[in-house]
Amino acid sequence: MKSILSLFDLDKTEILHLVELAGDIKKNPQVYSGALTGKTLMMLFEKPSLRTKISFDVGMQSMGGNTLVIDSQSSPFKSKETVADTAKVSSRYVDIIMARLFEHNDLVEMAQNASVPVINGLTNDFHPVQILSDLLTIKEKKGRFDKLKLCFLGDGFNNVTHSLIIGCAHMGIDVSVGCPSELSPKQEIVDKANAIAQVSEAKITVTQDAKEAIKDADIVYADSWMSYHIPESEKEKRVQKFLGFQVNSEIVKGAKPDFIFMNCLPAMRGFEQTAEIIDGRHSVVFDQAENRLHMQKAIMLECLK
Ligand code: NVA
Repeated sequence: MKSILSLFDLDKTEILHLVELAGDIKKNPQVYSGALTGKTLMMLFEKPSLRTKISFDVGMQSMGGNTLVIDSQSSPFKSKETVADTAKVSSRYVDIIMARLFEHNDLVEMAQNASVPVINGLTNDFHPVQILSDLLTIKEKKGRFDKLKLCFLGDGFNNVTHSLIIGCAHMGIDVSVGCPSELSPKQEIVDKANAIAQVSEAKITVTQDAKEAIKDADIVYADSWMSYHIPESEKEKRVQKFLGFQVNSEIVKGAKPDFIFMNCLPAMRGFEQTAEIIDGRHSVVFDQAENRLHMQKAIMLECLK
């Protein structure tokens, strides 16, 4: 029984196992149709969700289990009750918890006080289930993890970016983040990932030069410039900062000719990427979204093993 709060909780062998298991679940879903019969997943949301909510819900139900959704607005979570108390109480009722919270420390507190596995469904700092799913997509599209370069353009100080850096470090994928310097990834995360990268021989680069970041990339990745926790009042200022890091047909000339384009979604055409990129022939975003389902089934199976 294991919790997954960030990709620092897993090693390369465990990630490879999850990718293999998710691939098998995708090919043979009927084999797993009763695998979690009688188990209940609680999903706790402080932030909006579409893919995470649907894919965890359908994933659990397709393996014979039950689900329930709790949102912070209609529950006493953090208003009339501590995170620890919610974790202790819900552990008495359910078998596994997936939580999408603002503060990563709240998720840590939840896991420390729960007696069932806790899965991070996104915090301000990390999005591990997205990147595990993305590794399945990369394996399917590129057939390997070694000798690949992933370029992320946009918000470096971002949950998806942080988890990509850690995931790539584990798998030996070179990762290059092109972002405004004041929105660079958290240094403590880069430092910890660099220690992992030393073993896998992955190279982690953070640069303010979008062209340098994308040079010869096999995978080009974009995420929202306005993550759920960013106030709307910051939009104008942020758009100006990120415009030079938009994925468009000009900048992708620097990537490998067979690059794939990824975005965890939701995506805004005309912002983090242009429509011709996300709707174009290099884009794999809908296969990427589908893989959330298969990977999260694998994650729930492993956590409940
Ligand atoms: N960085 C984005 C990811 C959404 C799945 C956010 O936090 O809103």
